[in-house]
Amino acid sequence: MPKRFYITTPIYYVNDRPHIGHCYTTTLADAVARFRRLLGNQTFFLTGTDEHAEKVVTTAAERRVSPIQWADTNAAEFRAAFALMRCEYSDFIRTTEERHKSRVVAYIRELQASGDVFLGEYTGWWDPSQEEYLTETTAKEANYVSPVSGKPLAQRTEKNYFFRLSAYQDRLLEHIRAHPECIQPEARRNEVLGRLRDRLTDVPISRAVTSDPASQWGILMPDDPGHRIYVWIDALFNYLSTVDTDDRREFWPADVHVIAKDILWFHAVIWPCLLMALKRPLPRCVYAHAYWVREGRKMSKSLGNFVDLETLRAYADRFGVDALRWYLLTQGPLGATDADFSHSKFVEVYNADLANGFSNSVNRVGNMIEKYFAGTLPAPGKEHSIELGPDARTDRARAVSDSVAAATAALDRLAVDESLLAGRRLVTIVDQHINATEPFKLAKRLDEPGVRDKLADVLFTCAEVLRSASLLLFPAMPDSCAKLWRAWNCSPLNDPADADSGFKAGLTELAEFGGRFGLKPGGKISKGDPLFMRADPADSPPAAPVS
Ligand code: MSP
Repeated sequence: MPKRFYITTPIYYVNDRPHIGHCYTTTLADAVARFRRLLGNQTFFLTGTDEHAEKVVTTAAERRVSPIQWADTNAAEFRAAFALMRCEYSDFIRTTEERHKSRVVAYIRELQASGDVFLGEYTGWWDPSQEEYLTETTAKEANYVSPVSGKPLAQRTEKNYFFRLSAYQDRLLEHIRAHPECIQPEARRNEVLGRLRDRLTDVPISRAVTSDPASQWGILMPDDPGHRIYVWIDALFNYLSTVDTDDRREFWPADVHVIAKDILWFHAVIWPCLLMALKRPLPRCVYAHAYWVREGRKMSKSLGNFVDLETLRAYADRFGVDALRWYLLTQGPLGATDADFSHSKFVEVYNADLANGFSNSVNRVGNMIEKYFAGTLPAPGKEHSIELGPDARTDRARAVSDSVAAATAALDRLAVDESLLAGRRLVTIVDQHINATEPFKLAKRLDEPGVRDKLADVLFTCAEVLRSASLLLFPAMPDSCAKLWRAWNCSPLNDPADADSGFKAGLTELAEFGGRFGLKPGGKISKGDPLFMRADPADSPPAAPVS
């Protein structure tokens, strides 16, 4: 039975337009999912939209459409954004769907039956921009304005249903201590542990229905039409509701919830406690990455400086979507530190890793095979080494298997950037081998004994190592790798024309140097167009069309 793997992203508020932040998290999860499929895991990758926020009602009214129409329009925008980014999710959940709503009601009933949800009264500081209550301490620290939007907090008193969060604090702490990997990176775990030094209080999970139309949007509390389930509780359940079906149940618990640091508390504290109350197994890991900023400045509505979808599209149009994915995945805010989206850095990375790196190596090797062996891959010789420099060499099959092991180990820690760089390193090794063996010089001495064989060996080795490298680069650049495999007649895909069609075997077997799926001497290698053309750093950044 192949190992199952379940990865999720946050479900995004339909009120916002998709931007680099949403696209990054979903692309990151997509790269992990693609790598897992490549490893042969049965992978389920979930993304979607969070639609019951009060803002949906107010914005819909401003636009003179119904809340669901507004949600439909924007959910479609998110789908389009993830299609642009080439994210291959297994399902897209919308919290307004019946399949989700009915299960949420069932979960709440379960919690009422166990006494974990009860009716009480609540007074607290409400952050209207985030649709959440802040504790007195947090509100005071923030000078009674929203730490996110800067707008004033409002004091509210409500009759509410509460979740008995306080009852789960000790068990949660025990769980985190026993499974430190359940909150990553470490800085985020320490943040949660720090906050858990204060006692947890029970949290409201409903909102009273009033004459305010905003309070009439959302899932009703079971058997109480006077209350609706608070949007955050409704939203968190999506991870479970989507797979709580006969054919998907085995995917629970999730392996990773990928989120950013802004929503850590809900995922690392409220969610596991809800699950404990429901007596369900806990997710193995919540991974909270940091934030993208733009040209050194925080992105915000007031500055109007989001890297929006139009800008991302303009980059994808000029450089290719795989290049955009590569940049986001290798330079993004994967750890605890924010990352800067800067055009000059984009071009630098693009040229170094892709145009002058991967693409150039593929081209050089393809051109030489075309020129010296009429486009037919020559047979390797008896040498097994790759030359890295004047006195440095390594076994070529070892170089490949070590990189595969390094990439897989990095992926296990969700270090997607490191995993991709293990593939990038193999490309560098090929360049070093070319520089050290100088095949273009060998080609001028073909009449000397042994030289043709040596040249054949160099080119076979380079091509075969590049093929293995491309498997490790695939999670970031699926279409470019599929293109290379078609040109070199070595596709590991079930359908060579479709990068999403699945693999014929697992990564170790596929990547093995000279193995069953390796390049075959005598096979056709076509030169094809370069995968990535060099970019001129002096060119101005691609601009989104003015709408
Ligand atoms: N709807 C809630 C999540 C509910 S999950 C059960 C929500 N939605 S959101 O639309 O605001 O999305 C927040 C998420 O978007 C972040 O956690 C992160 O994944 C992504 N990002 C938003 N801005 C970001 C950056 N500037 N940088 C990186 N990612 C960020 O919160």
